[in-house]
Amino acid sequence: MRFMRSAMDGIRSGIRKIAYPVRYWSVYGFRPSPVFPGDLSGYRDVLSAISREKMYLPAGDVVEIGAFTGQGTYQLAKYFEKNAPGKKVIAVDIFMPSADTTANVNGRRMADIYAGKLAGREQRAIFDRVIRDCANVSVIEKDSLGMDFPVDEICFAYIDGNHSPRYVRNDFLITWRILVPGGWLAFDDYGRDLPGVTLEINRLIGEHAGQITKVMTVGTKTGNGYRG
Ligand SMILES: C[S@@+](CC[C@H](N)C(=O)[O-])C[C@H]1O[C@@H](n2cnc3c(N)ncnc32)[C@H](O)[C@@H]1O
Repeated sequence: MRFMRSAMDGIRSGIRKIAYPVRYWSVYGFRPSPVFPGDLSGYRDVLSAISREKMYLPAGDVVEIGAFTGQGTYQLAKYFEKNAPGKKVIAVDIFMPSADTTANVNGRRMADIYAGKLAGREQRAIFDRVIRDCANVSVIEKDSLGMDFPVDEICFAYIDGNHSPRYVRNDFLITWRILVPGGWLAFDDYGRDLPGVTLEINRLIGEHAGQITKVMTVGTKTGNGYRG
């Protein structure tokens, strides 16, 4: 009986392994990123929102702050390559998993969550492997605090870097100033287990309310698009 059950589990998992890439391909038109350790945000919801709202149409490049192992970078890169060739995806990460000591409501520090996911592996090495065939990605290995981008216009930014309110504000401001009219900023972790992130995003929406024409949440994990 036990043998039967584990054989069935094996068959089911085999079917899932084949079905998932086929389903993903049929929706997005490219293969999913290498599986381990998976993106943290749920970029499929992000891609669906980008498609639905045609966020790839305005002028300018794409920014991601907080790339971790590149699983989301890969998906953004392939998506924009297909739907808006010519746009660059600029991925910013400090590549120092210990840097963010913000704790969630359960007292778990981001640094510890990243160390657990990496299990001794080197973040940048995995990232480089995952994005190796993404010709439209340009990587900036840097602390995002006060940084300048090498481009003047972006149509979309996905923000999931350091989770302290100071960085949420910083990452908003450094992308907002180069966001074109009709462009979007998206934040991960809105309304979840990092109340400081949610509060700071709410403050930013309030402060820029006159220039924002649409606010929305998508999926169960990732948050908020803004149109400036
Ligand atoms: C939650 S992870 C990003 C996850 C990614 N969006 C995903 O879903 O796979 C946050 C990332 O932000 C990076 N980070 C932390 N502090 C940073 C800073 N000051 N500047 C740039 N990146 C930072 C970390 O190295 C980590 O890779």
